[in-house]
Amino acid sequence: MAPELTVVGYEGFADELAKLLGCRFIPMERRTFPDGEVCPRISGSPAGRVVLANRMKLPIDPNSYFVETVLAANSLKTMGCDVWLVMPYFIYSRQDKTFREGEPLSAKGIMELLMRSGVSRFFTVSSHADRDKPMLGFSSIPAHNIDGYLLLGERISQLKLSKPMVIGADMGADFAVSKVAASLDCHSDCLLKKRDAETGSVSTTGDIDVKGKDVVIVDDIISSGGTMANAIKMAREAGASSVTVAAVHLTKQEAIDRLRSLADNFFVTNTIETPISEISVAERIADNVKRML
Ligand code: R5P
Repeated sequence: MAPELTVVGYEGFADELAKLLGCRFIPMERRTFPDGEVCPRISGSPAGRVVLANRMKLPIDPNSYFVETVLAANSLKTMGCDVWLVMPYFIYSRQDKTFREGEPLSAKGIMELLMRSGVSRFFTVSSHADRDKPMLGFSSIPAHNIDGYLLLGERISQLKLSKPMVIGADMGADFAVSKVAASLDCHSDCLLKKRDAETGSVSTTGDIDVKGKDVVIVDDIISSGGTMANAIKMAREAGASSVTVAAVHLTKQEAIDRLRSLADNFFVTNTIETPISEISVAERIADNVKRML
């Protein structure tokens, strides 16, 4: 017999997941001590298998979020539960290489700490750390990287763009580009982005033939919005007739403010709760969890 299933987490995401899974929901209480230390409290008595579903919202604080997640996983483990973690946006995953000597391989370090906290299975959505490697190669527990690009493709298809063409904001987004282009049944191309490892400033080059096209620019993550702003500018200068911007994750309000007026359409999913997250990943996550029961 499969163990009892409970979802633990905050209202607004974890409870939705519990509904989709048809199981019990136990809320967490968020408490932060005056010095900034977090103390998540699980307000019930979970047993058996627990899906700990923790999602950030804007403005994000990945450091507190991480500590809170690790502490909650550890409490659940201490209670004797089998802990499956849903982390819709895999924090620190952009540092999936040691770019400069002395820097950490953050994605690996974070995954190791999650495993040590008692997590036995991991679910995330379109992780940056999984772009060109086998499934989250840093993990020795089962780790599921759920496809968010198909959801972007489905939503953009509803726009019924007459001459769509998908452009990657960066060569690293080519995997995303081909998935969205397949959904829209159209051609694609990629720009080339370079980021200065010291200053973080971004420059974009490329020769894209988008005159008269309804350009759809995709990336996995929008953070400051700099990469997207460059790509939008290049598409407009090359004669695009409309520009739609789409990414799975959006990590900063400033990017919304910066890009909203530059694009005709702007889509992101709710892996992080933002004011513009109209595409929900909850059903896709629930389907993946169900398959593992
Ligand atoms: C980086 O490799 C990612 O795929 C995104 O291109 C990047 O995170 C975007 O960052 P920003 O919005 O700050 O330019």
